[in-house]
Amino acid sequence: MYEIVTKETVAPNIIHMKFKAPKIASSAKPGQFVIIRVDEKGERIPMGLAGWDEKEGTVDIVFYVLGTSTAKLSTMCEGDSLANIAGPLGKPSEIENFGRVICACGCFGVGPSLPLVKALKEKGNYVITVVEGRGPDFVFWTDRLGEFSDEVHVVTGCGKTAWANDFIEQELQSGKKINRIFAHGCPFMMKVSSDASRAAGVDTTVSLTPIMVDGTGMCGACRVEVGGETKFACVDGPEFEGHDINWDGLVLRLRQLIPEEDKSFNIWER
Ligand code: FES
Repeated sequence: MYEIVTKETVAPNIIHMKFKAPKIASSAKPGQFVIIRVDEKGERIPMGLAGWDEKEGTVDIVFYVLGTSTAKLSTMCEGDSLANIAGPLGKPSEIENFGRVICACGCFGVGPSLPLVKALKEKGNYVITVVEGRGPDFVFWTDRLGEFSDEVHVVTGCGKTAWANDFIEQELQSGKKINRIFAHGCPFMMKVSSDASRAAGVDTTVSLTPIMVDGTGMCGACRVEVGGETKFACVDGPEFEGHDINWDGLVLRLRQLIPEEDKSFNIWER
């Protein structure tokens, strides 16, 4: 049922896939995510929506190949079908006319940034997009993001503005008015981006898709500490204020299954 319509490698180990999923496409909003299972016994993988087309009945995801489940997904071809996709899940992004907005993204986070940037632009914001990559080969979709951005900046780990957090810090220090920041990428990138805006007190929204099982707030697998309270990323998020997140706790939970992940990957590879 959930047929893969297109598959393309956009950067080393980063893949964009488009699936047939008409019901999800008809109600998706920026900031929401889906949970994918490759086969009946597969792990449930939460992924931010990187786009959708209601007419075609398709949805887009961008993922980084890391671990058994995404490795399995990466071996699937156009015409193959996934076991199931649940969604759209989570609260949509808060889209307002904030004024001047920075959208920082890197790696798989470039995907969900695209509908966000588009929605922010349509609301009348001045959108400054900064795309981060470990080198030029890891930077992609600047053209797509550029369609809806007033400025697009690329940072690739070199010089004084090496990473997205350096860019944020420099923009804020230069005295330019920035009303809101959004960051999409790996937890480390979102943490340092939040740290970069803390002193200036500019709200920084990050998107968390930690380990999830049911995606409906019942199992507790996706719990994160935000502002001293336990929140479930699947129903309370996935977006939260980056300054309020207990990042150490989040990283600890993400790392707890690494030995099982390694074991599973070795078995699958054989
Ligand atoms: Fe079960 Fe969020 S995935 S509570």
